[in-house]
Amino acid sequence: MEFSVKSGSPEKQRSGCVAIGIFRNRRLSTAAKAIDQASDGYISGVLRRGDFNGELGETLLLLEVPGVLCDRVLLVGCGKERDFDEKAYLKAVTACVQALDKSGATDATGYLTELAVRHHEADWKVRQFIVQAEAALYRFDQLKTRKEEPRRPLKRMVLNVGSRRELPAGERAVREGMAIASGMRLTRDLANLPPNICKPEYLAEQARVLARTYDSLEVEVLDEKQMEELGMGALLAVARGSANPPRLVVMRHQGAGDDKPQVFVGKGITFDTGGISLKPGEAMDEMKFDMSGAASVFGVMRACCELQLPMNVVGVVAAAENMPDGNASRPGDIVTTLSGQTVEILNTDAEGRLVLCDALTYVERFEPAAVIDIATLTGACIIALGHVASGLLANHSPLANDLLHAGRTSFDRAWELPLWDDYQEQLDSNFADMANIGGRPAGTITAASFLSRFTRKYHWAHLDIAGTAWKSGKEKGATGRPVPLLMQYLLDRLAEETERGRR
Ligand code: BES
Ligand code: MN
Ligand code: ZN
Repeated sequence: MEFSVKSGSPEKQRSGCVAIGIFRNRRLSTAAKAIDQASDGYISGVLRRGDFNGELGETLLLLEVPGVLCDRVLLVGCGKERDFDEKAYLKAVTACVQALDKSGATDATGYLTELAVRHHEADWKVRQFIVQAEAALYRFDQLKTRKEEPRRPLKRMVLNVGSRRELPAGERAVREGMAIASGMRLTRDLANLPPNICKPEYLAEQARVLARTYDSLEVEVLDEKQMEELGMGALLAVARGSANPPRLVVMRHQGAGDDKPQVFVGKGITFDTGGISLKPGEAMDEMKFDMSGAASVFGVMRACCELQLPMNVVGVVAAAENMPDGNASRPGDIVTTLSGQTVEILNTDAEGRLVLCDALTYVERFEPAAVIDIATLTGACIIALGHVASGLLANHSPLANDLLHAGRTSFDRAWELPLWDDYQEQLDSNFADMANIGGRPAGTITAASFLSRFTRKYHWAHLDIAGTAWKSGKEKGATGRPVPLLMQYLLDRLAEETERGRR
């Protein structure tokens, strides 16, 4: 969809539809008051008759409202005015665009962006509107022969900001929102693809496609032989049982000379059967989402390219398939990682940390400003944090704080778990430098503790997105998280640099 910003009164908009907020108990927002006045009390008349009360998420489409230039007026319920916070705003946006998409209007002007949301300015509201709207209208139907599309889908939206003064920030927010939404779409598409299509080489090819699309992006793909020469024994051990060979995909967005890059590393297990430590059959199809971390790295790279971000950003994807086979790794196997440390594989289902540890050693060569890995790493993280927050662990607290802050701003939240030394002993092995599992207690922390042994040379944070990358059940599908968090983190770094006056 196309978005733009504008500052103007609602009754004067020539548009397919004007969307205005109504709070619970029929309280009119500023825009609703303007339409009400221009239409000689038409809106308050509708409300008085009891057709609409302003409950959060409720909508009502009005046709032929007198005294206005638009074809339709959409009332959007915003709930109790005093409770109108970020969550309520996003819910109202979802209801608004879903109703618009079905309304028959192909273009619309939205006034929800002028509602007061505590702690947030117009640019935040514009950016979040766009990200939320695109997420709400997302469909994955490329593999359905019969697509269910609305007859006249919504194509263009103008978002209103309160004053002309806010237009420049609003325009920047439109660019950012559209880039983030586009990154999330790529993330969701890749993660939703079935595992018989989205294999390691498929991911490598998608990186090449991105490099052909964007001048700022360079791509390098390492194959099995190159990984052997380097000595990536852990990554290779995971891929041994699969007929689909592994890939290490390196994407580099060059936007700022020779500045140290921000580096993202994604877990790209295109299907996780557990290997010889085979998973139970129930819901195993969802293990196609085990490359969601990798998919989020793709999303971030695309968003950076679209924004032509004046920063250096490196994305690395460790792509492999975890299958049982005569050639597969066994519980008890000992492998030598790229770092030289040896690992006893006690459970072949703890494969994420094995592919990540070699990728994390590999990225030392980029002399990173910071490294963030993103992985659907542990079921334990779902037990700890559910499907609300991503797990965050880091070896550098300013980096952890930056990510927590970015999560709050983008409403794509993370929560920190401790990475104390005390947990390391759970990884002791009688036969190698370490084991790849740490037992039942604190499974998310011991997984990160394992990774921390490969990240001593730089500032590093780990996001466990096992609970947040996809939804199960009726709405099964990828969410696009944590692309909003990561993009906010990058935009914050950029703002910080501008503040320091270096550019
Ligand atoms: N990809 C899984 C983690 C996972 C499971 C994410 C379910 C989302 C939903 C990971 O590779 C895995 O199997 N982890 C094991 C680790 C264990 C063997 C130490 C787990 O969490 O059970
Ligand atoms: Mn596994
Ligand atoms: Zn896995």
